[in-house]
Amino acid sequence: EKGLQVAIDGPASSGKSTVAKIIAKRFGYVYCDTGAMYRSVTWAALENGINVNDTKQVIDLARRIKITFEPGQPDQRVFVDGHEVTKEIRTEKIAANVSAVAAIPEVRAQMVEQQRQIAQTGGIVMDGRDIGTTVLPNAQVKVFLVASAHERARRRYEENLQKGLATQSLDELEAAIKLRDQKDSTRKVSPLTQAKDAILIDTTSLTIDQVVDEISALIKKNQ
Ligand code: C5P
Repeated sequence: EKGLQVAIDGPASSGKSTVAKIIAKRFGYVYCDTGAMYRSVTWAALENGINVNDTKQVIDLARRIKITFEPGQPDQRVFVDGHEVTKEIRTEKIAANVSAVAAIPEVRAQMVEQQRQIAQTGGIVMDGRDIGTTVLPNAQVKVFLVASAHERARRRYEENLQKGLATQSLDELEAAIKLRDQKDSTRKVSPLTQAKDAILIDTTSLTIDQVVDEISALIKKNQ
């Protein structure tokens, strides 16, 4: 059995990272959360007083900083130049600013290069927006996860409540999710889009286990 490349793309809060983590564990593959990388650049920009629309400064910053991952529970730990940002990159402020950073072609080129390097290790589950289309176009398994905006907002709201972070109402969350999807889908370089050969899974009325089983079956078929 060889390690495959598994690309999981889809809009915000569609459950990508939740299922990607479970699948990586089940098959002994490396997990790479590419959204965490764009969030980390955004965090570093805000931390350094750089306006996310100041393209030149953001590009320089993205070239300077080193983003690293370490195993952790329940979430992988994320570091920028050795400083842990695991929690800080999940705030609404980062979510509201990340699409501007992720729309900069030179920033994407930097991140994509690192993502391809991470994928060389063997079996890999990578989640994001452009994995099946751009980062790993030859991935043996490509999945595009969607769910209604209302359901995605509801899940995020529940998650925030559990983490004690319920600062946004359900309606505010839904509006923020739709706005971020719209920005990610309409940017010029590597917009959020389903790869031609990706399998569409609508998770609106599926459980996490059902989605994991469906993707696991695709992996077994390709092994
Ligand atoms: O997946 P997550 O919601 O953490 O991603 C945060 C943001 O990073 C997305 O809204 C998008 O702007 C950007 N992103 C991207 N390409 C990826 C992963 C994330 O543009 N492969």
